[in-house]
Amino acid sequence: MPVHALVVDPSAPAAVRLTEVPEPVPGPGQVLVDVSHASLNYGDLNDARSGRAPVGAVLGSDAAGVVVQAAADGTGPAVGSRVVALTAGSFAERVAIDVGALAEVPKGLDLAQAVALPVAGVAALRSLRAAGLGPDKRVLVTGASGGVGRFAVQLAARAGAHVIASVGSSARGEGLAGIGADEVLIGLEGLRRPVDVVIDSVGGPQLVAAWNLLAPGGSVQSVGWTSGEPAVFPPYATVGPAKSLTSFVIEGDVGEDLATLAQLAAEGALTVEIGWQGSWDRFDEAAGALRGRRIPGKAVLEPASGGVDAPRLSPQN
Ligand SMILES: NC(=O)c1ccc[n+]([C@@H]2O[C@H](COP(=O)([O-])OP(=O)(O)OC[C@H]3O[C@@H](n4cnc5c(N)ncnc54)[C@H](OP(=O)(O)O)[C@@H]3O)[C@@H](O)[C@H]2O)c1
Repeated sequence: MPVHALVVDPSAPAAVRLTEVPEPVPGPGQVLVDVSHASLNYGDLNDARSGRAPVGAVLGSDAAGVVVQAAADGTGPAVGSRVVALTAGSFAERVAIDVGALAEVPKGLDLAQAVALPVAGVAALRSLRAAGLGPDKRVLVTGASGGVGRFAVQLAARAGAHVIASVGSSARGEGLAGIGADEVLIGLEGLRRPVDVVIDSVGGPQLVAAWNLLAPGGSVQSVGWTSGEPAVFPPYATVGPAKSLTSFVIEGDVGEDLATLAQLAAEGALTVEIGWQGSWDRFDEAAGALRGRRIPGKAVLEPASGGVDAPRLSPQN
């Protein structure tokens, strides 16, 4: 039976169209999941518009729902388990998911909250780990109001770091002090003292400014580039005591890290801020708000029940 899904369509306003696709057939190490929630990442929007995801491909990376068919090789969760996963093509009512790409959702954590964790939470956790996080380090998080940023602020604070959160406006900085930011700055102009770690999801001139603030031995993790602007390093900016600028991408199985994040969220040790939640019929609205920097934290999409005959996506972005 076909299932509803959001697929890449460059002719649609947000380059995404709701349609039907064949029900996925799980491989031996995959479970079949009924998706109740998906979360929208900035990277999904880039995938749809840039050609990185081919026309007609099911979009999405984060899914949460219930296992309806266990893996044939006997690995992974049983039928009925609530799971969260990082998996390509998550914007579908049913998805076949590698058991290494998912974690069971602990009691006490809603699937709507859990689904916010995969891309943003794993990027925050792993980039901080790669940077060599430790107590008393000064950690700068750019784009701190967004999905990756909010998790990075909290995880760095939990590790005992002094956390500096950089945002685009005072309104965008709301709530960050309450989740662990020691300083909340607009841009980077006010920052004078060097930092040991930078988790950068903005790129462009802010990346150059962050590099200049980096202490010897420090590490910039280049996680994203939401500014879309080039970074121009002045001559000799990269000459001097050793420090590093490292590219970052999520690779390999994420199940273990997802389980860690889900447990922290279930215990209330990691706050999941959902700034937008609604039917995936309203995908264009969610996409416009995310691009327009109007969503604090994460956007959560809910697959709608019913047919695909009626016009479901709003015409404007
Ligand atoms: N490498 C990886 O594996 C990986 C994983 C996850 C995400 N990413 C990337 O990381 C970036 C952030 O992802 P996300 O999901 O956290 O996005 P998000 O929730 O939309 O947050 C992005 C933040 O960037 C800031 N921003 C947006 N446009 C900006 C601009 N023109 N100039 C300066 N700041 C701007 C915004 O903060 P203000 O409104 O406060 O300015 C916003 O809160 C994206 O580029 C995404 O593709 C990469």
